[in-house]
Amino acid sequence: MSTPMINIAGLGKSFSGHRILHSIDLQVQPSQVVVIIGPSGSGKSTLLRCCNGLEVAEEGSIAICHQDLLVDGKMIPDAALNHLRTQVGMVFQSFNLFPHLSVLDNVTVGPRKILGTSKEAAETTARSLLAKVGLSTKAEAMPATLSGGQKQRVAIARALAMQPKVMLFDEPTSALDPELVGEVLQVMKTLATEGMTMIVVTHEMGFAREVADVVVVMDQGRIVEAGKPDQIFVNPTQERTRSFLQAVLSRNGTATQQAA
Ligand SMILES: Nc1ncnc2c1ncn2[C@@H]1O[C@H](COP(=O)(O)OP(=O)(O)OP(=O)(O)O)[C@@H](O)[C@H]1O
Ligand SMILES: [Mg+2]
Repeated sequence: MSTPMINIAGLGKSFSGHRILHSIDLQVQPSQVVVIIGPSGSGKSTLLRCCNGLEVAEEGSIAICHQDLLVDGKMIPDAALNHLRTQVGMVFQSFNLFPHLSVLDNVTVGPRKILGTSKEAAETTARSLLAKVGLSTKAEAMPATLSGGQKQRVAIARALAMQPKVMLFDEPTSALDPELVGEVLQVMKTLATEGMTMIVVTHEMGFAREVADVVVVMDQGRIVEAGKPDQIFVNPTQERTRSFLQAVLSRNGTATQQAA
């Protein structure tokens, strides 16, 4: 097996004396898609945020793209962290676009300011990324004029413009109207097919079943169970996994009935 793109070992984190992550071990191989599921407050976002240095864990180690990020609870120096961060794209539930910049400028600002890419080169790349996410016609639009699904696709294009080696998605479709979820999942599916290494936190079980190589179930700051989608969804070994899946499926069923 090749060296993992993401290697998390013994990761532990507390917030004001409360243990949030307990000795997390997780490896993500190149081109693998790992989907993390689990109840609210189980530590999914915190784990993801630790992977690009947005949160600092005080125990354990993280290596990303074959570079250390955290070593025995110590973060690497800021300069090295900033460099590593450019290789780790992150997409949030709430899009976080710059409201005062056009779609094109949202996508070019990172490469221009952080990578020193020329305006022309950054715009050429941005336009091809906007085409890839189905938004060629929106380059000059302002974010406020876009739908949620369009905003999230701009956010994905913006992350990709930095040419990341790894993409982290934190509930990228949770803030979207149900009819806009599919267009964002489709872009993520394409990325997965192209071989991007991804960790995706989501409640979209259909996406997890179809796209994930590994599904990781978290509860109370621990990994309860991890396995191939079929194993987790059809034959979970842990009672906690079963009860969580039941709760999600009955909630989705209710949502479908309400929408009908
Ligand atoms: N900045 C913070 N300060 C204190 N506690 C925090 C902070 N961020 C998260 N927590 C706590 O850590 C725990 C894990 O939170 P986290 O956001 O990682 O969970 P999650 O699994 O992503 O939940 P959700 O599904 O609701 O997004 C929660 O109990 C939360 O209250
Ligand atoms: Mg979260």
